[in-house]
Amino acid sequence: MFPVEKIREDFPILSREVNGHPLVYLDNAATSQKPKVVIDSIVDYYSNYNANIHRGVHSLSQEATDAYEQARKTIQNHFHIKESKEVIFTAGTTHGINIVASGFSALLNPHDEIIVSALEHHSNIVPWQMLCERTGAVLKVIPMNEQGVLLMDVYEQLLSEKTKLVFVNHISNALGIINPISEIIDKAHKAGAAVLIDGAQSCSHIQPDLQELDVDFYVTSAHKMCGPTGVGMLYGKLEWLEKLPPYQGGGEMIKEVSFEKTTYADLPHKFEAGTPNISGGIAFGTAINYLHSVGFDKIAAYEKELLDYATEELLKIEELKIYGTGAEKTSVISFNIGTIHPYDIGTIVDKLGIAVRTGHHCAQPIMDYFKIPGTVRASFSFYNTMEEVDKLVSALKRAQLMLS
Ligand code: ALA
Repeated sequence: MFPVEKIREDFPILSREVNGHPLVYLDNAATSQKPKVVIDSIVDYYSNYNANIHRGVHSLSQEATDAYEQARKTIQNHFHIKESKEVIFTAGTTHGINIVASGFSALLNPHDEIIVSALEHHSNIVPWQMLCERTGAVLKVIPMNEQGVLLMDVYEQLLSEKTKLVFVNHISNALGIINPISEIIDKAHKAGAAVLIDGAQSCSHIQPDLQELDVDFYVTSAHKMCGPTGVGMLYGKLEWLEKLPPYQGGGEMIKEVSFEKTTYADLPHKFEAGTPNISGGIAFGTAINYLHSVGFDKIAAYEKELLDYATEELLKIEELKIYGTGAEKTSVISFNIGTIHPYDIGTIVDKLGIAVRTGHHCAQPIMDYFKIPGTVRASFSFYNTMEEVDKLVSALKRAQLMLS
């Protein structure tokens, strides 16, 4: 049996009350909660070895540099990345996407094509639209069906020798659908296109093997994986990272600077201008180690139980409709109840201590497809319980009574 009660003790926030009720935190797709070891590692850095990295010969700087570089190695091993210089620390998924989008400005020609999917977060739509504006490239979209599943036959038709890049999220943040990224990557490569996968929503549920996937770029954020906000990872194959120009100029990303000419530092520093989020990077490594101590296989199996139970119980509520019903799903349930506005439901359940996200979830094209203003989204993590599912269901019934 999954030791959920024991695991909950690792998360200080889970013992607090909200509006006079024990917190039921079901907004894990927005950000995960943090175990004490992660919080402690941030406090430890600032209390005991706060110093800038890669710069000083003094001992504190060396200690901080070692801890930061150890975190890079932890990330490398976790994602099964060949070389540590293929791991670029970023401020998060959006930053990673923008580094790649900006770099491709120099590599695209007018009429080249870029493919995204209908399931994307705005952060995986807007940077590519901006890239198209800068270069004259054309954006194409893989459509989805009523279940929120991408139409792979249309994807195949969209691919051609004009396609230079394909960008798809691993898991949809709005619907929880898991995309067939292996097939997406293989087909793109056959057409000669590079692929970026947005792993913001997947990395807390799945441990991807980036070498096996043979993906060109993969981005994610620490805060979705029990780590801190403001730090993330961009993985890029060495040949791509060498080809892309740097995103920002500044200290730490140079080899030599004169007023006539600057040469850039080797990877990964070429993409890491400025003093980074040092404590965040270190704590990202701690978060990954923590997740391994729980076990990814165990997390996946338990979250599947939560998803199945919650789906079954929610569907017992009259007029409740779930969006995103494809078979390959993670523990995210997006729904509406009749014509009640999602915001009203979110406000009432919050009064009962339950945190869910409401709105378009930064994925307006999905809401437009379903012709709805938004949904209520309950996203479950391995520290949630079946009792919390019951509390959600009973709070929703109460909200329905009050609002109908
Ligand atoms: N992308 C995050 C979410 O889905 C913020 O809530």
